[in-house]
Amino acid sequence: MSTTDPFSAPFGTIFGDAMTVATVEDGVYTYGGAAQPLENFSLHPATHVFHYGSACFEGLKAHKQADGSIAIFRLDDHVERMLISIGKLQMPAPDAELVRTLMVDAVRANLAHTPDNPGSLYIRPTFIGTAPNIGAAASPSATGMLYVITSPVGDYFTGGVRPLTIYIETQNPRSTPQFGSVKSGANYVMALGPTLEAKRDHVADQVLFAPGNDITETGASNFFLCDSERVITRNLDDSFLHGVTRRSVLQIAKDLDLDVEERSVDLEELKAWSEHGEMFLSGTAAVIAPVGAVITQGDRIEVGGGEPGPTTLKLRQHLTDIQTGNSEDIHGWLTVVEP
Ligand code: COI
Repeated sequence: MSTTDPFSAPFGTIFGDAMTVATVEDGVYTYGGAAQPLENFSLHPATHVFHYGSACFEGLKAHKQADGSIAIFRLDDHVERMLISIGKLQMPAPDAELVRTLMVDAVRANLAHTPDNPGSLYIRPTFIGTAPNIGAAASPSATGMLYVITSPVGDYFTGGVRPLTIYIETQNPRSTPQFGSVKSGANYVMALGPTLEAKRDHVADQVLFAPGNDITETGASNFFLCDSERVITRNLDDSFLHGVTRRSVLQIAKDLDLDVEERSVDLEELKAWSEHGEMFLSGTAAVIAPVGAVITQGDRIEVGGGEPGPTTLKLRQHLTDIQTGNSEDIHGWLTVVEP
């Protein structure tokens, strides 16, 4: 692995030097049982994933603990979501135990690359359809590959924990109503055009998709309103990502005696909220990232005076304390990886 500092290198550009790989054919998965060196794949130019988007992935993290061990955060929740995504690609889902083993073996083989806090080892399980078949536009790939790579990471947003500027897109959704909950590459590339445009034209960090004024998610994170009494986020449906960090935030909010509201939020409520409340993004990569301004209908509106709000920072602190073993893991979210 390169010795580059994960806080100076862009997020996700340096890698642990071992990976795990399983293959599937006729619904049968095969795994050699051990990590192997990280290496390039050789794939036929007709490979299904290059043409028909048969790809999905997960994003989770392993953190150094206060006692020196390394633990994966919410491993089984990510395994469960990966199985759902593979199923939505119409590919045969592996046993949960196999996906779990591939993730744990990949982390074990890269333990030495786990950075000190606040850095972490980002884990990227990926599934691709590998059949060389450009005729298979209306059928799933006959073969596939499930692999796990890792990346020592620092902050996702350059500049660390800083108030982000969010551009609100009210015309188009991030994905499609039926596919938004799948963690597939296609959903991310669909958000790219509006995101680059918002960065260029409005100096925004992210786009918040609010089709028909219905606030959903940004290109890479879920979205929350909060104040000293409550957190509010969009109720789940198939149109946007069911974030594991989102779920953790809701649980931590309950633990802190905050009210939790999962419901629709429209643009008018969001604008009114900016005058007295806080907003933040949540995701494995983003953690909990404060919003300092929203841009909508040609106006730039400050949120919470443009500074990270106290409830946002409190939730972030509680989350990272659990992830790093600095507060008790009362919900059983950590899986320690033995060397
Ligand atoms: C994650 O938060 O893990 C994601 O998959 C988002 C990605 C843009 C890094």
